[in-house]
Parts: sequence; C-alpha cells; structure tokens
Amino acid sequence: MNDNIITALDIGTSKIFGASALIKDTGIEIIATDIQNLPEEVIIKGRVVDMEEATNAIYSVLKNLEGKIGESINWVNIGIGGGHLKGENYTKSISIEPAGREINENDLQLLRREINSAVIAEKGPDKKILYTTPQYYKIDDMNIKKKEPVGMHGNVLEMSVHSITVDANPHKDIKNCIQSAGAQVDDADTYPHSWASAEAALTEEEKKVGCLLIDIGKGTTDICFFTEGIIIATSSIKFGGWNIDNDLSKILHTPLNYAEELKKNYGFASYPLLKKDNNAVLSQTVEIISTSGKLTKNVTIGQISNIVYDRLNDIFTRYIKPIIMRTGEACLAGASTVITGGGAKIKDITIFSEEVLGLPTRIGIPKNILDIDPAYHQPEFSTGIGLIILASKQVRQHKKKDSLQKIKRIFEKWF
Ligand SMILES: Nc1ncnc2c1ncn2[C@@H]1O[C@H](COP(=O)(O)OP(=O)(O)OP(=O)(O)O)[C@@H](O)[C@H]1O
Ligand SMILES: [Mg+2]
Repeated sequence: MNDNIITALDIGTSKIFGASALIKDTGIEIIATDIQNLPEEVIIKGRVVDMEEATNAIYSVLKNLEGKIGESINWVNIGIGGGHLKGENYTKSISIEPAGREINENDLQLLRREINSAVIAEKGPDKKILYTTPQYYKIDDMNIKKKEPVGMHGNVLEMSVHSITVDANPHKDIKNCIQSAGAQVDDADTYPHSWASAEAALTEEEKKVGCLLIDIGKGTTDICFFTEGIIIATSSIKFGGWNIDNDLSKILHTPLNYAEELKKNYGFASYPLLKKDNNAVLSQTVEIISTSGKLTKNVTIGQISNIVYDRLNDIFTRYIKPIIMRTGEACLAGASTVITGGGAKIKDITIFSEEVLGLPTRIGIPKNILDIDPAYHQPEFSTGIGLIILASKQVRQHKKKDSLQKIKRIFEKWF
C-alpha cells in the first residue's frame, strides 16, 4: 500500500464525493474521484438515517476509487457536520511549580486534560470531544500566540483552545457505515465540514485578516470564522438548500424536485433590491406543474425569488449573523465572507450576503491542488477537496514528527 496516497469522503446530504490523492513534494495531485448521488432520506441534516443505503453508496465510491488507483483503500478521512457539531472557546491556566521552571510537554498535556474534563463535565456523556485546538498561550500574561511554549520559563501558563464536540451516537453511525463498507476512519481524521471547505476555498491572507466561511449544502449550513489565522468559531446548522426547496414546494404546490429546479433557475437572492429597482425580470412568468403532476399554472420570478429570499434571510439573520456578532468588532475590521457549497450557486447570493452581514463576499471554489479536473472546480466540491488538503497536512506532520523522532533516536545513541 502506498503511504503517499490518501482518500477522503465528503458524506453530504445530496451526494457522497470521494477523492484519492497522491502527496508529492510539489503539492497534492488528485488521482481519482467518484461521486454517488443520494436519494432523499439517506442522510438528513448531517445524520445518517438509512444505514444500509449510506453503506452501499460509500462502498460504491470506495470500490470505484480502488479500481481507478489500483490499490485497496483501508483508511479514509471524513467530514462531519449537522446540528450535532459545536465549536466553543475555552481558556485555562495553571501555576508552574516551582515558579520560574522550564515549561515542558507535561504542562501542556495537563492543561489539555483539564480543559477536556471541564468540557465533558459541562456537556455530559452523550458528547464526544473531536478536537481541542490550541489558539494561543500566555506565559505570565504575555501572549505567545500559536507557538508552543515548551522550553520557555514562567510562573503561570494559560492556554486558550477551540474545542469541537459532536453527539457521540450520529458519529458512531457514520463510522459503522464506513466500517461495513470495508474501510476504517480514525477520530483524528474526522474534520468539521466547514474546516475542510475553508482549507480548499480560503487564502492564507483571508484567514489572517478575518474571514467567515459559509458552506451552504442541501441539509446543513456549515460555518467557521478565522482571525489572525486562528479558528475562533465553528458551527453547523440544520438548514440548507432543501429548506428553500421545501418552502417553494409547499407555497407553490409543486413537487420537491421541481421546486429545486425553480430555485436553481429563477430564484434571485437579491429580491428586495430588484424589487426596489422595479426590475422587469421579477414580472417574467414561469409555467410550473402542480403536486399531482397534472395541472400547470404560471408563477412570476418575483414570487419564486421572494420565497428564496425569505428562507435565506431567516437562515442568515437567525443563525449566521449572531456568530459574527459574537466574534466582536476587532475581529470584523477588514474581515470578509466566502460562501461555498452547492448553495453558493443561488443567484446573487453575494449581493444578498453583503447586504445582510455587511461584509464583502465572494464565492469560494476549491483551489490549492494540482491538476484538478475542471468538473470539480465548483463550490459543492470544496468540502471533499478540503478534506484531502487537511489529510495531507496531517500526513506531512506525522512524517515530520517521525523523522524528528528518528533524528532524536540517532542523537540519543551517539551521546
Ligand atoms: N445552480 C444552483 N443554484 C442554486 N442552488 C444550487 C445550484 N446547484 C446546486 N444547488 C443546491 O446545492 C445543494 C447541494 O449542495 P452540496 O452538494 O454542497 O450539498 P451536500 O454537501 O450534499 O449537503 P450537506 O453539506 O448539507 O450535507 C442543494 O440544495 C442544491 O439544490
Ligand atoms: Mg456538504
């Protein structure tokens, strides 16, 4: 088995996208991809609800990838999202005894353990900690930013982390589906969907200056906020493109799949602005079929856009705006928004987002990858490609650690 080949699965509500990549010195090269569209009600809002169908789809993706790369796939990297994922910040400090001693790895481990115990005590046993990511350290009130303070001297060491917890049961279900499909997944190889999308779609500069990443999928909207290159907020809400389709279907009495096409083709998120300008596009009519599939009637693009706008406005003002308000004024200065996921294709979504959130907005598509098939240069593939990038970073880090260990062992032998 080639250690330099990694595989990622984006198990989304609408599709399972798999990619295998070769880690080269010059970058990451995608060597195989596969996609299996999912019927309704296999994954709902980030949770597997039909284990058999989900397993079959994962199995097909894995087999197709194996056929293309000519190797068996034993381990995969996956993303996780849905209402059962939560990111929060915690800070804890310890006294260094005796005062002024050199800080060592054990001190960091102790802080990490104390933070994790506090998180579990607060959240209860049904939650599982997926990540405890250090944001910055302080030694005697001096900010040490991201660098680990091992080897420095101090009296008090403070650690701030961004902690990701998930509901234990949905997480076990996804792992079981992967196992039944013939592969394994480690918790360390399971990433919040928004982190993966950010890895594919954001520039390092955006992460430094401040950036809100919004991945609008079919069943969930995954969000994270970066400032100074550090993640300070992660969230996943149970609303996505499906909720817009569902509103259109109910209000216009048309089948759900038809409603989705109406959203894609005629739903303008900039509805209030178009209305204010008396834009003629709003009064154009579209013929739609009724739920029974027999009758047809005419609706205007204005009616369709109004429904699309109302649901998007609800998601953005109720769930996304509070996240950016909590980050504080200082983090928002110069910050921008990047929207990705299939929902990023909603017409005029950037105009809508700038109006509602007050931050410059662009659409994010996957980048930072070699030779990617242009077919995957679309926002709905940001999570899958981002998972590959995150996984490759992890592999590189392990290799670096391994070689440092080797060098250490050689030195230990010599001296
Ligand atoms: N051209 C388009 N205009 C508007 N919406 C679109 C367009 N193309 C796709 N979408 C919407 O994007 C959504 C699917 O996006 P995506 O593939 O990112 O979701 P997913 O990853 O499967 O789901 P989730 O992340 O929620 O589990 C669907 O709601 C679909 O209707
Ligand atoms: Mg998705």
